Formats: sequence, C-alpha cells, structure tokens
Amino acid sequence: MGASAIPTVLTPLSGEQAEAMSQRQIKKHHVAIVLLHWFNATSWLLELATGAGLIVSPYYRFAPVWYLQTMEGIFGSRANMLRFHEAVGLTWITVFLVYAIFGFRNYLRIEVLQHEIGLDADDLRWLKVRTLLLLGQTKEPLPPQGVYNAGQKLFALLVYTMIPLIMLTGLTMTFHWFGAAMVAWAMILHFFAVGTIVSGLMIHVYMGAVFPEEKPAFYSMITGTVDELYAYRHHFKWWRAVKVQEQMWREELRAQEESDALSTEEKPDSNPGTDRAPR
Ligand code: HEM
Repeated sequence: MGASAIPTVLTPLSGEQAEAMSQRQIKKHHVAIVLLHWFNATSWLLELATGAGLIVSPYYRFAPVWYLQTMEGIFGSRANMLRFHEAVGLTWITVFLVYAIFGFRNYLRIEVLQHEIGLDADDLRWLKVRTLLLLGQTKEPLPPQGVYNAGQKLFALLVYTMIPLIMLTGLTMTFHWFGAAMVAWAMILHFFAVGTIVSGLMIHVYMGAVFPEEKPAFYSMITGTVDELYAYRHHFKWWRAVKVQEQMWREELRAQEESDALSTEEKPDSNPGTDRAPR
C-alpha cells in the first residue's frame, strides 16, 4: 500500500479489516515514560495522603478527625509526617529534573509539546461535540484526534503549568526561602496548584482506569502499545501519521535494497578475474 492509499478520513471498516487491525499493535509510550508516569502517580498518592493530614490550623482542617488520628498513628507525629511529605516531594523533584535534562530533546521541546498537546481546530470542535454528546444534544461523530484527545491535552496542559509551581512553592516552604511572607504565599499557591490538578485528576483517573472505551489507553500505560483498531477509531490523525511514516520507511528500505542489489550485480564486472572483495 502506497502512502496515497492510506485513508485521509475515518471510514467504516469491514469485519475482516477490523479484526486484522485489532491484532496489530502500535507503539505509543516509551518504557521510560511508562515508568515515569507510575512513579509520578505513586508520588501523588503519597503526597496527597500526607498533605491532607498536614492542613491543620486552629481555624481550619481539611480532613476529618479520624483521618488525622489514623495518619498520626502511622507516622508517630505530625512532624514525622511533614518530614515524609518533604522527602517524597524532594525525590519527585529530583527524578523530574533528571527527566527534564535527559528527556528535553524528545519530550519537552516546544515543537514536541505543540505537536502532542497543543490544541487545534479539530480539538476545539471535539470539546464542543463531546459536551453536546454528554448532554444528549447531538449524534454528530467526534472529530479525528491526534496522539492525545482534546480532553487529555487540556489535562496535560494543566499538569505542565502547575507542576513547576508546585515544585517551586514546595521548595520555598521546605527551605524557608525568601522570608516568612513568601512562605505564606507559597502555601496558598501550593494548595491552589494542587487543587486544580486534583480536580482534573478525578476525570483523568476515571477515564484512564474505569471508562470501558478507554481500556486500551490504560493498558498502553503498562505495555507501551495500543492496538491499531483503537488507534484508528479514537486517534485517527495519529494512526494516519504512524502509517504514513511506516510506509516511507518501507519505501526507503526497498530503495536501499534495490540499490544494494544493483551494486552487487555490477561488482563482478568492475573486478574482472578476481573473486576477492575490493580493499
Ligand atoms: C491512578 C492514577 C492514574 C491513572 C490510572 C492514570 C492513567 C493514565 C493513562 C491510562 C494514560 C495514557 C493515556 C493515553 O495514552 O491515551 C495517562 C497519561 C497521562 N497521565 Fe495519568 N494516570 C494516573 C495518575 C496521573 C497523575 C497523578 C498525573 C499527574 C499529576 C498524571 C498525568 C498524566 C499525563 C500528563 C498523561 C499524558 C497525557 C494525558 O493523558 O493527559 N496521571 N494516565
């Protein structure tokens, strides 16, 4: 199949085509990203569990008394719980720093981010149609999507904006940088940034771990791959880009093989009377 034979719009598949596509896998996530994602999720779980137990003042507490007592029972004291929260936070920052340094070229360059999580016209329409579908107001099909859908892109944009703020405010509070007034501001900004991510995280975890249609996406965060049928139906623009790229590689390989075959055919004439390879 030439690149021109790869469909440019999502068309219905025959049963046979769908079956064949469901058997083929496409690589979606590098193993380093899978490991980083689950390290991040575990860190968030620990930080949220201890953070909720640390928001206590004479005027306000976030968690119910039974929760505070259980957490203090586990850690022995609130001071120990704070030390644990800071230690996990510092480990999390260090790991992300390593990722930012070594993964910058492949994952964090502005062109890569724009391509993967920048919103385009199809995404804006996707958000509109998705909302109308949820409200039962339309039967319009969803516009084609790239490697991430518009909802995932919005969450990723929120995460990429808020994570540096969480890290900076966390460091300011841990090391008492820039004086007491700044530490007080850091506390408010820290809660705010964590709160915005947690509100998105509820949808993210539901879509990732529970929503039946997105099961292949969940497994892709374990195996690194998705089946082609899922990619075709849910991320058509990405599926097409992968197929065009594969086709180009195949054509390059064929051209290379043909030119290698031609040069080996020509060799006996260019070295008449000898079967030794030229030095
Ligand atoms: C138990 C918790 C979590 C589950 C089950 C989960 C699930 C997933 C899944 C299945 C994907 C892959 C989506 C795809 O390839 O189509 C993903 C991607 C991602 N996750 Fe999570 N995740 C969790 C926690 C978190 C946390 C705590 C964060 C950050 C604070 C996070 C940030 C991201 C980002 C930025 C992506 C890539 C883009 C996106 O899907 O928005 N995840 N997650």
